[in-house]
Amino acid sequence: MNDFVHLFRPLRIGNMEVPNRICHVPTDISSSHADGSVSARDISHHEAIARGGTGLVIVGATSPNRATNRSTVTNLVADSDTHIPGLARLAACMHRYGSRCAVQLQHAGRQASLPRDGKQASNDVAVSLPWSQSHAIVYANADEKRKTVHVLTTDEVIEIVDEFSEAAWRVKQAGFDAVELHAAHGYLISQFMSPYLNHRIDRFGGSFENRMRFPLAIVQSIQDKCGRDFPVIIRYSADEWVPGGREIGESVEVAKVLQRAGVAALDLSQCIQESPGAGFDPMQYPEGWTMYASEAVKKAVSIPVINSHSLRNPEYCERMLAEGKTDMIGLSRQLLADPYWPAKARQGKVRAIRRCISCLTGCWQESMMAKKEIACAINPGCGNESFARMTPAEKPLKVAVVGGGPAGMEAARVATERGHKVTLYEKTAELGGAILGCCMAPGKDEKMKWYADWIRWQMADLAVDVRMRTSPTVADLKGYDVVVNATGARSFVPDVHGMKDRVIPFEEAMACPKITCEFHPNNAKNPDRLPRVPRRLEGPKVVVWGDHYAAVDTATHLASIGKEVTIVTHNREFAANVEVIHMYVTWKRFRQEEAEALADKPYKHPVTVFSGSMIDEIREKEIVLVDREFNRRTVACDAIVSCWTRPSTELLEELRAAGVPVLNVGDSVSPRNLHAAVREGAEAGLQLDGSMLVNPNGAFMTDLPLDVRGQMTR
Ligand SMILES: Cc1cc2nc3c(=O)[nH]c(=O)nc-3n(C[C@H](O)[C@H](O)[C@H](O)COP(=O)(O)O)c2cc1C
Ligand code: SF4
Repeated sequence: MNDFVHLFRPLRIGNMEVPNRICHVPTDISSSHADGSVSARDISHHEAIARGGTGLVIVGATSPNRATNRSTVTNLVADSDTHIPGLARLAACMHRYGSRCAVQLQHAGRQASLPRDGKQASNDVAVSLPWSQSHAIVYANADEKRKTVHVLTTDEVIEIVDEFSEAAWRVKQAGFDAVELHAAHGYLISQFMSPYLNHRIDRFGGSFENRMRFPLAIVQSIQDKCGRDFPVIIRYSADEWVPGGREIGESVEVAKVLQRAGVAALDLSQCIQESPGAGFDPMQYPEGWTMYASEAVKKAVSIPVINSHSLRNPEYCERMLAEGKTDMIGLSRQLLADPYWPAKARQGKVRAIRRCISCLTGCWQESMMAKKEIACAINPGCGNESFARMTPAEKPLKVAVVGGGPAGMEAARVATERGHKVTLYEKTAELGGAILGCCMAPGKDEKMKWYADWIRWQMADLAVDVRMRTSPTVADLKGYDVVVNATGARSFVPDVHGMKDRVIPFEEAMACPKITCEFHPNNAKNPDRLPRVPRRLEGPKVVVWGDHYAAVDTATHLASIGKEVTIVTHNREFAANVEVIHMYVTWKRFRQEEAEALADKPYKHPVTVFSGSMIDEIREKEIVLVDREFNRRTVACDAIVSCWTRPSTELLEELRAAGVPVLNVGDSVSPRNLHAAVREGAEAGLQLDGSMLVNPNGAFMTDLPLDVRGQMTR
C-alpha cells in the first residue's frame, strides 16, 4: 500500500501551516445569491471538500465590485461589509474539518458577465474571444449597444487597486487564512500582465516592469490594509499559448518579482480565453502535462508553488511531489467528481476514488456555460444535496434494473447502497453500454475507461446480482417490486434511396478489442466470455452519417487509423450539443492542426464535414447528398457508418402495458450524454422506496406530505 508520505506532509505558506499538500484550486461553483452573498449551497459544497481532507481550499473567483466585474452571474462577491457574515460561515465550515482556506479575488475585466459601463478593458483593443459568452454580449455590436470599450484611466486603475484590497480586508475579517489574486486566464490582472493583451501606452503598459505594476500595486495595497503577515497567493498562467503571449521564460521572471514583493505562494495555471484547450484541458490532455511549469518556476524561487490541470491519480501526484516538481497538488474538477479524494487516498482506498474524466459536460457546458449552478457528469451528488442526505430505504424492495450501461449501473449502485435487493440484467457479455464505444476514440479512451472501471467495480464491490447475456421478459420481471428500464439507445438508418444495406451501424465499427482491460469479455480472466471484434471497413474513404457524440467519436477513431472521413449531418452545425472545448480541439484535429500544448500526430487526412445535408441515395461507390437549398452533389465512399440513434423502448412499452411499476432512465428516454444517464440513474436509485406512489405523469412521488400519503393510501 502507498502511504503517500509526500501528499500528506504539512507545508508552510507565509504564516499559514497547511496540513497536507492537496489544494483545491479555485473553482467558481456559481451558486451564490444574486447579490453575490454566500448561499447554503456554497457552504455545503466547500464543507464536503474540507470534510474530505483537502489541506488548502481556495474558494473560486470572488468579485471586488459586483457592479462591474462578476465573471458569472452568480459568483461570490466581497464588495461590501454585508458579505462578511456569510464569508465567515464559509470559512468556519472549512476550519471545522482542519482545512486552511483562502478566497480568490477576481476582476473579470473584458470577460465580465455583466455590462461593464465603459469600464471594460485595461487597453483599447477588443481582442477576439471566441469562447466567452460575455464577449458576444459586450463586444458584439458594442457601439450600437453603447458599450464601447475604453482604456481605463489611471484614476480608475487606482480605484480598482483599492477595491481589491478592501475585498481582501473583508476576506481576512471573515476569518480566511489567506487571499489569492486571480491573475490568470485573461481576466483583468492577467490583461495587464500579458504582452499579448496589454496595449497600453502609459506606465501600466509596454515593458515587463510596466505590465507588472498593476498586480504589484494590488499586493502592496493588500499588505498595507491586512498586514504583511496575511498571506497573498497569486494565480497566473505559466504559458498563454497565443502568438505574442507570455511564455514560461517570462513567467519565471514574474515569479521572482512576486517573491520579492512578499507574495507567499504561486498558483500556476495555463492559458487565456483565446487558448481554451490549455485552460480547460478536456479529455485529450494527459495527466501531468503542466508539470514542466512548476519545475521551471521552482528553480527560480523559494516560496511554495502550486500546480494543477488534469491531476487525477494519487500515485502520480505523490511522485511529482517526491521528485520535487511541485510543492502542492492543485485539484479543481477532481474534487467536484470526488471531494473525498484525499481521505480515500489516505485510507488506501484508491480504487474507490471516482476520477474526474475531464469531460466538462457537467461542470462547464451544462452549468457555467448555461448559467446554472455547478454539477458533475459522474458525481450525481455534486450540486445536489439530496445525495449527501441519502438515507437507507424505509422498506427495501426487490428491484430489477434492465441495461448495464451507466444509467442502469448508477441506479443499481445507489439503490444497493440504500439497502434494496437489486438484480442487474445486461444482454451483452460486458457491462458499460454506450461508454464502451468511447474506448475506440483516441483522447477519450483512457478517461472514459476510468469511469467505466469505477462503476463496474462498484457493481462488484456492492455484490450486485449481475446477470450477463440475459434479456428478461415481462413475465420474468413481474416478480420484482419495481423495474428500472435503462435499455439505452441503438443506431438506425434513416430512410434513403438505393443501397441501404451498405450502411454499417457505428456500434460494429467501434467495438473495443482491447483485451488488456480486466472487464473485457475476451480477457484471460474471463475465458467463458464472447470475443468482441471491431468490424473492418473496406477501402480508405468512409462516410460517417450522423451527429452528436457517436458521430464525433466514430469520425475521430476512423481518422486516427488513417481513413479519409467525410461527415454528413442534416443539422446546421455539426456536434452543436457536444461539449464546446472538446469540439474546439476536435475541429483543430479535423483540420490537421495541433491544439495548444498537444503535440500528437495530426491525422493523415483532414476530416470533411457536410452540415445541413442529407444523404438522398446510396450507390455502389458513392453517395448523393442534398443540402438545404436542394443542391445535389456526389461524394465517393467505400463505406458508410450510421451514427443516428434512437431510444430502445420495446421492453418499456410492454412493461407499462402489463402494469408493472417501471422507471425509465438514460438514453432509453432520449439519447444524450453520460451526465444525463448518470443523473437519471442515480435519481432513480434515490427515489426507490416501499411507499412509492406514481403520479399521473408516470413519475414517482417522493417526499409526499404525511397527510397526503395517508389520504392516498388509506
Ligand atoms: C467549473 C469551473 C470553474 C472554474 N473556476 C475557476 C475560478 O474561479 N478561478 C480560477 O482561477 N480557475 C477556475 N477554474 C479553472 C480550474 O481552477 C483549473 O485550473 C482547471 O479546471 C484545470 O484543473 P483541473 O484539471 O484540476 O480541473 C474553473 C474550472 C472549472 C471547470
Ligand atoms: S463534469 Fe466531467 S470534467 Fe467536470 S468534474 Fe465531472 S467528470 Fe470532471
